[in-house]
Amino acid sequence: MSVTRDAPATPIDPASSLDPASSIDPASSIDPPSSIDPTAPIDPTATVGSPNASGTSDDSPSARRPFGRHLLSIADLGAEGIAEVLRVAETFAEIERRPNPKVPTLRGKAVATLFFEESTRTRLSFETAAKRLSADVLSFSVANSSVKKGESLRDTIETIEAMGIDALIVRHSSSGAPHQVARWAERARVINAGDGWHEHPTQALLDCFTVRQVLAERAGRDPATVGVGVFAGLRVLIVGDIRHSRVARSEMLAYTALGATVTLAAPGSLLPPSLEGWPVEVADDLDAALPHADVVSLLRLQAERGSGSFVPTLREYTAHWGLTRDRVARLADGAIITHPGPMVRGVEIAGDVADLPMAVVTRQVTNGVAVRMAVLFLLLGAEGSVDQVVASGEAKETE
Ligand code: CP
Repeated sequence: MSVTRDAPATPIDPASSLDPASSIDPASSIDPPSSIDPTAPIDPTATVGSPNASGTSDDSPSARRPFGRHLLSIADLGAEGIAEVLRVAETFAEIERRPNPKVPTLRGKAVATLFFEESTRTRLSFETAAKRLSADVLSFSVANSSVKKGESLRDTIETIEAMGIDALIVRHSSSGAPHQVARWAERARVINAGDGWHEHPTQALLDCFTVRQVLAERAGRDPATVGVGVFAGLRVLIVGDIRHSRVARSEMLAYTALGATVTLAAPGSLLPPSLEGWPVEVADDLDAALPHADVVSLLRLQAERGSGSFVPTLREYTAHWGLTRDRVARLADGAIITHPGPMVRGVEIAGDVADLPMAVVTRQVTNGVAVRMAVLFLLLGAEGSVDQVVASGEAKETE
C-alpha cells in the first residue's frame, strides 16, 4: 500500500520544510530584503545562534525549561518539551472545567496577538488562554493598523514591543516570519501561530493532547498519568494537502518525536517537492492505508496557497482522497479522526463523517485553550510550579 521512505534519526530537512517561494515577501509590509533572504530556508532544529537560543545571561524560569525563549517550531521542544507542555496542559484543562476557570498567574503581563493572516480558532483560543491566566490581551488587526499605511513588519514589531508587551503571538503567510520577529524582539517571547507552509506548533500540541486524552479515557485512565508512552507505535495517517500544510509539518515532527509512525496520503501533486529526511511513509492509495491507521489527521486543501491548481477538480480530489462515509467503514475499530479546522465539508471530509463521535474536531478546539495556557505559562509565567497555579485558582474561587 505504501512506498517506504528511509526513516533516519535526523530531523526534518529544513530545505524541504519551507517553501522558499512563500518565504517573506519584502513587498508585503515586511522589512527590506536585507532583513531576510527569502531563498534561505530556516533551520527549524537550530538552537545555538538562533533567535530561540536561551543565552547564558537569561536566568528566567522559562529559560530553564526544556525549550528556549520562544516557541517557533515543534523542533524547539523535542519529546521532553512536548511531554512537559502536555503535562502542564492537563492541569489547565482541569482548571478549565471549574465554574471560574481564571487564575492570576500572568497578572501584570501583556500578550499581543498579531495575525497577518485570517484565523478563527487559533486567535480566539490564544486570547481566551491569556485571559484565563489574567494577562492583558491586545489584539492587533492588520486591516485597522498602520501596516495599511506602509509600515514595515520590523517597525510594527518594535512599536508594539516598545509598549512593554511580554509575548507576541504571530501568524503570517510568509514562512519564517515569526523567526524573524524573534530576532527583532528584545524582551518579548514569540509564539508561532502558523507561518506560511512551515509550521503551526500549538496545533500539533493540541492534536497530540487530544489523541492522548481519547486513548486514556478509553483505557479508563487519567490522561495525566499516561505520559507520552501512549504514542509509541501509534499509527498516524495524515491525509490531504501536505504540500501546503504547516499543520502536517508540525504534526509529523511531534508525532514522530513521541514514537508514533507517520504515513502521508496525498496525490503526488500535493506532496512536498522533496521528502528527503522526513521520517515518514507515503501511501499512494488511501483506501488501502485507512485500515492500518489509529489516527487519521485530515487536512484542508489550502486554496489561499493555490492548491486548486494542484488537483484536476474538487470532485475528483474528493473521490480519491476525501474521507467519505464509505471510507470510514474501512477504518479499524477505535480509530480517531482529527482535523485542525476549518473544515470544508464535502471536500476533504463528508459532512456526516465530521459529525461522527470518532471525529474529535470540537474536542481539539476545546483543548486548544488549555494547551495554549500551558505554552504561555511555560514561556512567561513559570515563577512557581503549576501546582501553585492550581492552588491560587482554588483560593480565588473561595474568596
Ligand atoms: N486550525 C487553525 O489554525 O484554525 P484557524 O485558521 O481558524 O486559526
